[in-house]
Parts: sequence; structure tokens; C-alpha cells
Amino acid sequence: MNNGLNHRLLATRPAPIGIFDSGVGGLTVLREIYRQLPNESVLYFGDTARLPYGSRSPEEILYFVRQILTWMAEQGVKMVMMACNTSSALALDQVQGEFPFPVLGLIRPGAQAAALRGKRIGVIATQATVTSRAYSRAIQEIDPSRQVWEVACPKFVPIVEQNQINTPQARHTAATYLQSLLAANIDTLVYGCTHYPHLAPVLNSFLPSAVQYVDPAISMVAAATQELDAMALRSSAPAWSTEFYVSGSATEFKRLAVQWLGHQPKVSQIRLPELVANPRA
Ligand code: DGL
Repeated sequence: MNNGLNHRLLATRPAPIGIFDSGVGGLTVLREIYRQLPNESVLYFGDTARLPYGSRSPEEILYFVRQILTWMAEQGVKMVMMACNTSSALALDQVQGEFPFPVLGLIRPGAQAAALRGKRIGVIATQATVTSRAYSRAIQEIDPSRQVWEVACPKFVPIVEQNQINTPQARHTAATYLQSLLAANIDTLVYGCTHYPHLAPVLNSFLPSAVQYVDPAISMVAAATQELDAMALRSSAPAWSTEFYVSGSATEFKRLAVQWLGHQPKVSQIRLPELVANPRA
């Protein structure tokens, strides 16, 4: 175990941006940060001991998010991007303003991109995100004429985390989940869970070629860029290599993440700080 604190406090390196997810879904956000903000150093946390988040209650999600942000504050991050739609849908409003750095979520940037692009919008997401109706509400707030269909896809996260993307089961599951969206004749599909862009080749093969895809990470990172500029926090020095922390097995995460990162990441297991109110206590 390594709480990562000491070397961060001693470091003279520029403050990193913190991002977190339940597991490897956040890598699709990390990819966007590398593309749009190549000078930013990133600290990644994957709560792999407690995934999937999508079947958790709002109280549990809020507790986990507060724990993660408390730990990130100890690491000296200058900003946090929630690389998790479930956390963004269920906890962003509550935690914004509780920490001494900006916290950005995926729902609003994703809804904005979707409302701009399409009229008949399908959203695939975790059960918790769909139950919250965060995407429907955000999209219709931006443009009430937009129609939205939300579909919960609880089997997708285990498929990605167990590295079963290229299997007949993955195809069968995708075909089943997309049925109602095909029937609704959607023109736009929102990846409402950061794990799902990992399944893009499978999903794309079932939808008409005219369908447009919205990855909310693209818009969230663009919004983060503006915020960093506005706060004069943008780094101009070269980034240091991303540090990965997980609550579960570091070896498992390493083995899974290498295919998207293209190299073996350095991953450490950590224990998050206990907070006063634990919903499971
Ligand atoms: N990747 C996360 C999301 O965007 C969480 C998925 C899960 O753990 O259920 O919602």
C-alpha cells in the first residue's frame, strides 16, 4: 500500500489534474486529455474494488465521490474531471464547492454536444445514470424539442472489465440493448458511460451509418481547457507520466489497461480515507 502523499508533497512538479472512474472507463477520458491537453500531468484513480458503480445507490456514489475527492485534495490536484458518468449524474451537484479546486462532470458537456448534433437522441448508460434521468433532463433543458431515449446497459461494464469485448456474447448483448434505439430511429447516440467507447466497434456495427456518436469526454475536456485558461492554471511544461492508483488489484488493472495505453502503466494500490458518514456502516 502506498497513499501517494509524501512524494506528492515533496514534489516540485506542477500540480496534476485528477480523474477517476470505477475502473478502466476513465481511460477513454484520459485519451482525450492526452489529445487536447498534452502538457497536463494526470493522476488517475480507478475504484476497482467497488465497481460497478452503476448498480450502487445515490448515497453510496456520493460517499465514494467524497472519499475520492478528499484523497485527491491530499495529492494536491489543481482540478478534477469526473471520468465517470454515474458519479457526474449522482454526485456532481452536491460536491461542487466542497473542495478547493474545480470539479467537472460529463453530463452537461455531453448533453450540450448531443442537443447540438441530433434531434432523436439515444443515450446508453448505467442503470444508476438512466434512473437519475440526468441526460434527458439536461438535453431537454438545453433544447426542449429534442427527443431522448435512455437505455440502461448493465452488462457492458463487466464485459469491458473482464476483457470480453471481442466475443459473441458482447455482440449479442449489444444487439439486445440497441433494439429499442433502432426502433426509435435515433440519429445520435451518446456514450453515457465512459466504459462504452471501448465497445465502439461492436456498437457501430449495429447502427445505421448516418447515426452520429457523442463522446461526452471530448466536450468535458474542451470545457476543462477553457476553465484552466480562465484560472491561469494551464501547464506549459511537459507532462510527467500519468500515475495510476486503484482500490483493487494493481496487477489486474495493469493487465487490462495496457491494450488501450499501449504500454505497461505504473499502478499502485491505495486505501481511501474513511469519512465520517459511511452509507454501508
Ligand atoms: N464508467 C462509469 C460511468 O461512466 C461507471 C461504470 C460502472 O462502474 O458501472 O458511469
